[in-house]
Amino acid sequence: MAARDVAIGVAVGVALALATSLQAQGGGMTADPALAKQGANLFVQKGCLGCHSVGKGKLAGPDLAGVFQRRSKEWLRRWLKTPDQMLASDSTAQALLAQFNNTKMPNLHLSDKEVDALLHYIAQEDAKVHGS
Ligand code: HEC
Repeated sequence: MAARDVAIGVAVGVALALATSLQAQGGGMTADPALAKQGANLFVQKGCLGCHSVGKGKLAGPDLAGVFQRRSKEWLRRWLKTPDQMLASDSTAQALLAQFNNTKMPNLHLSDKEVDALLHYIAQEDAKVHGS
């Protein structure tokens, strides 16, 4: 009897934890707090901040809120690594370019680790914007 109550309690706890972690996701991307912190620094250091906000409107570049709903993670990784190549070959990138008055996002020569940290940061900020 008692053991069964414990089992039910554990099941409810797991369900609640799952629901909470789902809320912290930016459209399929779960933000890792340590990586997101690195990403927050990179967002400033690499100058992303000058052209992008997450949820505060568009600047020279698109508002990054909801970007995980618009694009796949693979697309975002490729974009952050080689925006110059994507602008030359990818129709989504070209459409964005037209939308942003031909302002080309520069290739910032990010490492895979930096790209990863930045995506975690964007996911974290995105989750804040979408609220809970
Ligand atoms: C000089 C301004 C500028 C800087 C600096 C910049 N971007 Fe961009 N970004 C743009 C523009 C403009 C676009 C839209 C595509 C284009 O016109 O090149 C874009 C597109 C994007 C997209 C795709 C958005 C979408 O809706 O699909 C992401 C993600 C992104 N940038 C992230 C970053 C990150 C992260 C950094 C820093 C490492 C950064 N950008 C630095 C201007 C910039």
